[in-house]
Amino acid sequence: MDNKKLLELALDAMNNSYSPYSQCKVGAALLCKNGNIYTGANIENASFTPTVCAERVAFFKAVSQGETEFSKIAVVGGKNGIVNKIFAPCGVCRQVMREFCQDDFQIIMGEGDGKHTLVTLKELLPYSFSPEDVK
Ligand code: THU
Repeated sequence: MDNKKLLELALDAMNNSYSPYSQCKVGAALLCKNGNIYTGANIENASFTPTVCAERVAFFKAVSQGETEFSKIAVVGGKNGIVNKIFAPCGVCRQVMREFCQDDFQIIMGEGDGKHTLVTLKELLPYSFSPEDVK
């Protein structure tokens, strides 16, 4: 699965964003090491705090289906669904990634115009607190 295709799946998923409060539409497509793909969109709530980001929806869908090994995630987002710059994963999503992924997990952030920025989890979350720390 190449990065461009994964970004296209994230863009498709973004269409299902439920974001009446922020109007920020976000989509994610998560690739498992076995080749399976899980998508997610952000889901907001009138009470605000129950809101869940697109990345976590994708991860929780995958983990709840028995997946535990992941290689990369594509993320796109923008106000009113207009993708013209990266929509970097929030801190909570980075920590959820760290629960299931290693340093070399890749985050592909779409920028629009077919461009993207690729970083590793180690770059996104240096000096992380991980499951190993509580063993
Ligand atoms: N959002 C995501 O879906 N992913 C992120 O990593 C950052 C923020 C969503 C949550 C909320 O619905 C909207 O973007 C504005 O914060």
